[in-house]
Amino acid sequence: MHPIVARNRSDLTEARKGGTLALVPTMGALHEGHRSLIRLARERADEVVVSVFVNPLQFGPGEDFQRYPRTFDADLAACREEGVDVVFAPAADEMYLPDRQVSVSAGGMGRIVEGASRPGHFDGMLTVVLKLFNLVRPDLAVFGQKDAQQLSMIRRMVADLDVPVEIVGAPTVREPDGLALSSRNRYLSDAERRAALSLSRALRAGAGEPTPARVRASAAKALAEAPPELEVDYLALVDPATFLEVPDAYEGEAVLAVAARAGATRLIDNAVVRLGR
Ligand code: PAF
Repeated sequence: MHPIVARNRSDLTEARKGGTLALVPTMGALHEGHRSLIRLARERADEVVVSVFVNPLQFGPGEDFQRYPRTFDADLAACREEGVDVVFAPAADEMYLPDRQVSVSAGGMGRIVEGASRPGHFDGMLTVVLKLFNLVRPDLAVFGQKDAQQLSMIRRMVADLDVPVEIVGAPTVREPDGLALSSRNRYLSDAERRAALSLSRALRAGAGEPTPARVRASAAKALAEAPPELEVDYLALVDPATFLEVPDAYEGEAVLAVAARAGATRLIDNAVVRLGR
């Protein structure tokens, strides 16, 4: 029987069983990384809702909103295999009123690192995530560490706006050769995919180093050796809570984040690094 497909808010209300509820927000095109989020959600709650919604608000002009993979039948089959209770798949006009005015601002943190390359992205992402929280009313919500700044911004929103939900982060799932799973990997040609491996290679090179300067230098060196198909956007070593670059004397956990374009496909990846003693 499962999962129930809810297309609107009243379907959602009817589908609720009671008990603790976990939400796994997605834009569909589900892969093994999403499945790992779903499994974590199932361990933590009585009922699991997966939302599938390609959110127009978080795509900028010239980004891949139109061509973003939409694979609903396969997504539903994956949710069935993973024992999901409800798939919430609203249409855009169910999510957004035509005269909508108010949205979430990601603030300064939304304009740095990934936000500097994708203006407005984090405002649109936080707006849909807050709406999903309000519609589904989960006890907890699971997000991947792969989108490290997104996870950090959602934690910030929940703290700043007193949103009553627990945010659970889940480790990045990788191919055996190190490529982080992403719905966008399916766009890559063979040569672009080979070039994309330089992202995880750079993270591994940086992650073994003891100081910020050496982390940055080793990761940058690995990126400089990448094939010509890879155009690096940024390499950043940041505080996980603020996404500000860490100073040279920094000790503790930091996020080494990288973004690059392989052909027309933008890829991001990151690793948590421990600096100092
Ligand atoms: O990570 C994603 O797939 C999206 O940014 C999210 C969290 C589902 C919001 O649209």
